[in-house]
Amino acid sequence: MTQQTGLHPLVQENMRGFLEKHPHLKYNFFGGKGGVGKTVLAGASALAFARLGKRTLLASTNPVHSLSGLLSQNVFGQVVQVTGVPNLFAYEIDTKDTIEKSKQEIKEKVSWFLKFAEIRTQADAFVESATMNPAFEESAMFENMIDIMFKDEYEVYVFDTAPTANARRLLGMSSVYSLWVGKMMKSREEAQSLRQVLSYSKKKEEKDPLMDYLLSFQQRMAHAKELLTDAQKTAFFFVTLPEALPIAVITRFIAWFKEFGIPVGGVVVNMLIDKAQVRADSPEFVRNRVAMQEAYMEEIKSDFPGMVRAVLPLFETEIRGVEMLKRTADALYC
Ligand SMILES: Nc1ncnc2c1ncn2[C@@H]1O[C@H](COP(=O)(O)OP(=O)(O)OP(=O)(O)O)[C@@H](O)[C@H]1O
Ligand SMILES: [Mg+2]
Repeated sequence: MTQQTGLHPLVQENMRGFLEKHPHLKYNFFGGKGGVGKTVLAGASALAFARLGKRTLLASTNPVHSLSGLLSQNVFGQVVQVTGVPNLFAYEIDTKDTIEKSKQEIKEKVSWFLKFAEIRTQADAFVESATMNPAFEESAMFENMIDIMFKDEYEVYVFDTAPTANARRLLGMSSVYSLWVGKMMKSREEAQSLRQVLSYSKKKEEKDPLMDYLLSFQQRMAHAKELLTDAQKTAFFFVTLPEALPIAVITRFIAWFKEFGIPVGGVVVNMLIDKAQVRADSPEFVRNRVAMQEAYMEEIKSDFPGMVRAVLPLFETEIRGVEMLKRTADALYC
């Protein structure tokens, strides 16, 4: 592909080119190491989709209140239309509330099961030990995210913070789930028919909420897998800085994703210092930093061939508010 003018030489196919090739792109994710600019770039990307006239939801599953700060508008716990940007809606998911609801649901199921199995123990102790870990919280957030996807109320979704570990786990586990649920179904059916043979009464079998839950869970995971591996609809973008650790992090993520067939949309390099602003008499730490970034840009070039979609400058201030976000969107979709 011929290089477009105004683009960084590392960019062969930019965001715009990628979108032209993926006109049905619907689920966009931004991932990368902490603090590299995932929230900012998710916001800029969502704004760009909204400007194209697409009804867009920018959603954050990040427990830290990030979107409200970025937009200078309270979008916590509910979907809010972003002021001054038609078609753009933002939603910062209430993590605590999501986790609490999920715990409550599990508690009901465990209570039912304990009663069913005639075990006289309170569900609370079980539930506490099963849910007091970060993996449970992550899963609850992941389920909340796929629920938003399934509701299908927007043309485009941009999720701040790719649920990297979860997406990977989900795809790795989904065949195990199927196997497991399949086995449970079979033994459940056998038990039921045995019970019917032994029973004189023709009493109708009572409903089994645990089994229903497993079945619907399996179906939801299968559907999520279908959407998340559809390269026409889904793209995971990885944000890095021209620095060692952020590069190492996305290198690992990209390898995982490729292994599981999750579509990688590309790499965005953020916070590159504009060399034109640096002179021989600039402070030494600035010159050193520029030299360091230059070396890592070479590394990015060889590590992610053809995958860099944009290179964004380090702006003079942090990125806050819609006006600054528009500037970032211009740089991302130049
Ligand atoms: N190109 C840039 N120029 C200047 N400041 C930037 C740029 N990109 C991001 N920032 C600033 O860097 C900080 C971190 O950005 P952001 O919050 O988007 O990172 P993040 O990856 O979402 O972080 P976290 O992992 O904590 O969620 C913010 O203050 C943001 O305004
Ligand atoms: Mg963030």
